[in-house]
Amino acid sequence: MTTRPVGVFDSGIGGLSVLQALSAELPHQDFVYLADSGHAPYGERDAAHVIARSRAITRHLREAHDIQVLVVACNTATAAAIHLLREEHPDLPIVGLEPALKPAAQASRTHRVGVLATRGTLQSTKFKALHQSLADTADFVLRACDGLADAIEHQDLPRIQALAREHVAALGRCGLAPGEIDTVVLGCTHYPLILPKLRELLGPDVRLVESGAPVARQTRRVLPQVAASGQAQLRAYTTGQAGELQAAVRHWLQPPVDVAALKI
Ligand code: DGL
Repeated sequence: MTTRPVGVFDSGIGGLSVLQALSAELPHQDFVYLADSGHAPYGERDAAHVIARSRAITRHLREAHDIQVLVVACNTATAAAIHLLREEHPDLPIVGLEPALKPAAQASRTHRVGVLATRGTLQSTKFKALHQSLADTADFVLRACDGLADAIEHQDLPRIQALAREHVAALGRCGLAPGEIDTVVLGCTHYPLILPKLRELLGPDVRLVESGAPVARQTRRVLPQVAASGQAQLRAYTTGQAGELQAAVRHWLQPPVDVAALKI
């Protein structure tokens, strides 16, 4: 039996961290990945831009690929647009990502949790409501990591190094002692792609929390038809430079796939 693909999009390569988790959870499922690198970064643009792009991409993935589920593998796009996408596509199950504040608060012993995310995510109404609803479970120290997703997108190692250092330092003291941050939420799908660097900066005691695995499990729950056997097919498209996505896919996904450039 052939099943329709699952569509996954992000502003760029960050969603590959989610796609890894999706492929592990659904090894026989076909996926179509769309990196909107030609219109990135989303996190430092206004919500209207992110909404317009999310709408255009969702329409495209439905029309060109007949997707059965959409995964918005981007915290910024989820915060700005998921409610509109759900309104406009009531027949399409849509799974989004949001910074994992609740699991982080539950895991924290010091009840002090760092949150690294884009400015767009932290300023969104959706995030503010989430933060407020959990305000009495932990002290959340929020940091808008300007420039970091863009540096990761372009694999600019000196910039990644400098910005990761600056943003982590801005969280304040991290560790297991009372008053220190013992848990840090990676609230942008680009950040798990530099996990070793973040671990090195935060030290071995600090727990890092991301959303890939829970999102993959949620996707399985809402999938109308789960492919149970056969070789999964992955197609990847970018609105930016095909070479950049190709390099990222080669690095992050097994087996690597061909990438095509696309204008939408
Ligand atoms: N990967 C995206 C997220 O999860 C945003 C990166 C960007 O600023 O484009 O928020």
